[in-house]
Amino acid sequence: MALVLGVESTAHTIGIGIVNTEGKILADARATYFPKKGGILPREAADFISENYSKVLKEALAQAKVSLKEIDCFAFSQGPGLGGCLKIGSNVTRYLAIKHKKPLIGVVHGIGHIEIGKLLTEAKDPVILYVSGGNTQVIALSGGRYRVFGETLDIPIGNCLDQFALQVGLKHPGGPEVEKLALKGKNYIELPYIVKGMDLSFTGLLTSAMKLHKTGKYSLEDLAFSLQETAYAMLIEVTERAMAHTNKKEVLIVGGVAANKRFCEMLEIMAKERNAKAYYVPMKYAADNGTMIAWAGALMLKSGVKQELSKTSVRQKFRPDEVDVTWT
Ligand code: ATP
Ligand code: FE2
Repeated sequence: MALVLGVESTAHTIGIGIVNTEGKILADARATYFPKKGGILPREAADFISENYSKVLKEALAQAKVSLKEIDCFAFSQGPGLGGCLKIGSNVTRYLAIKHKKPLIGVVHGIGHIEIGKLLTEAKDPVILYVSGGNTQVIALSGGRYRVFGETLDIPIGNCLDQFALQVGLKHPGGPEVEKLALKGKNYIELPYIVKGMDLSFTGLLTSAMKLHKTGKYSLEDLAFSLQETAYAMLIEVTERAMAHTNKKEVLIVGGVAANKRFCEMLEIMAKERNAKAYYVPMKYAADNGTMIAWAGALMLKSGVKQELSKTSVRQKFRPDEVDVTWT
């Protein structure tokens, strides 16, 4: 059994987790940057990560009651993400691996979200709905890779909710704020529902919701309610088709938007109608964290993956379907 330390630093969060190769979580430490106003400023986020890396590392080691010397493998988020944030996480982690003469494994951020979801639920071979601020993809394991069956053609769902919130004067991140307001909404206001084949578009929906807000004719509660209902129905339509196409009987939501109760409820209804089972990554591990990177790294390590240091440079664009899944 080996100990793997994983580092997440794709955007706003510096997260460090420690797991063993049997799937036991020994530590999960993190610090998250919140912009003073507006959205993430990449430079500020990168500074935040460099200022907090060592504090979070110390906390993770203390939680696991281990020293760096006892770590058998270091894993890090190789991409996709913001260049500056990725570079700090990868450079410091690479240094630790070299100093302690241990292997270094680069993990696709989205695969981290998927694998922690599978570890913490009973999902074995699900269709995965990866919904966050930076990504929106419907994924399933097929032919040895996590294939993307459908995705956003423009902005991700979380970003759509965040931008709407910002425009109407709510706090960042907007997802939870929109969710709170939507609970008080009663009237559905028609908004653009855009599904093209297996792909989705959220910009029309966002622009339309913002325009309607400016007219002053609709309550923010009703607009938040309608925005959620429309966006989540679009996502569920594509997910259902991916399930029919792949003949899979499980669905798993991962990523920050998985924290949304209404979304999970809608997914549950769809799954029941198909005699399938819906799973949700536990709230604590829905948002970005180092544990998901540690666990994906542990799976890769166990399956014999060895990466040369020269092949572990960061990639601002990195898709789950670019990596062979050697571990399931
Ligand atoms: P990634 O790098 O994977 O794209 P991310 O940087 O967006 O991830 P996450 O923590 O996975 O980070 O997701 C954050 C997103 O989740 C934000 O857009 C936020 O508004 C959204 N979110 C968080 N809680 C909720 C909620 N309850 N309902 C809807 N959206 C939510
Ligand atoms: Fe993420």
